[in-house]
Amino acid sequence: MNFDQLMECRYSCRSFSEEPLTDAELAELIRAANGAPVGSARYMDLHLTVVRDRDVLDKMAEALFVRVEKKKKEMAAIVETVESQRADNMPKDPFYGAPAVIFISHKKQDLQPGIEWCNAMNAAMFIHLKATEMGLGSCFSWGVLESERIFPEHAHNDLLNLPKDFEPLIGIMVGHPAAGGKVRKIPEDRLSINRI
Ligand SMILES: Cc1cc2nc3c(=O)[nH]c(=O)nc-3n(C[C@H](O)[C@H](O)[C@H](O)COP(=O)(O)O)c2cc1C
Repeated sequence: MNFDQLMECRYSCRSFSEEPLTDAELAELIRAANGAPVGSARYMDLHLTVVRDRDVLDKMAEALFVRVEKKKKEMAAIVETVESQRADNMPKDPFYGAPAVIFISHKKQDLQPGIEWCNAMNAAMFIHLKATEMGLGSCFSWGVLESERIFPEHAHNDLLNLPKDFEPLIGIMVGHPAAGGKVRKIPEDRLSINRI
């Protein structure tokens, strides 16, 4: 699969089959994360947590449900561009039944403000693209962790058993898609652009 094909097959999978991921499949995804570029090569500042325990995922979703309840309007505004997530169509499981979610955590730091988000996203993106190449489905998971930051009293990040001073910044759910994805044509004018 060349890059253009990968780009046209890539999509956010929001429906997974019950088939679990094998250890070998997970190992390939983790290898991809290890291949991602990291600012100043500070790979020691990133940490991955593979969660296959449904109870942990259900617990982690709590803050999102509190937010949907308490901030319905705000949530509706955030997801209005995503059909499957509209307020009247909110998923019951924000991990869509994925058999595994890989959380990417970063060591708290203020030497290079903001670089942690880029580093974490790079690792997540490499997993997303590798999963696409492997015919797996995957989708970033931001809403749950963002809700935990907004409602820390409903956060359960302790369940991730992270090294000291690390915090989870983004997750990526991965699994076998319930239905086959489509090859999509990429609109070339979605992003505004100026030239100087
Ligand atoms: C930073 C980031 C966070 C995201 N968080 C979520 C999320 O929490 N839940 C979800 O269902 N999709 C999430 N997505 C997926 C986007 O909604 C999706 O990429 C967008 O709707 C475009 O659709 P496509 O990926 O199928 O092309 C996230 C994507 C990005 C880039």
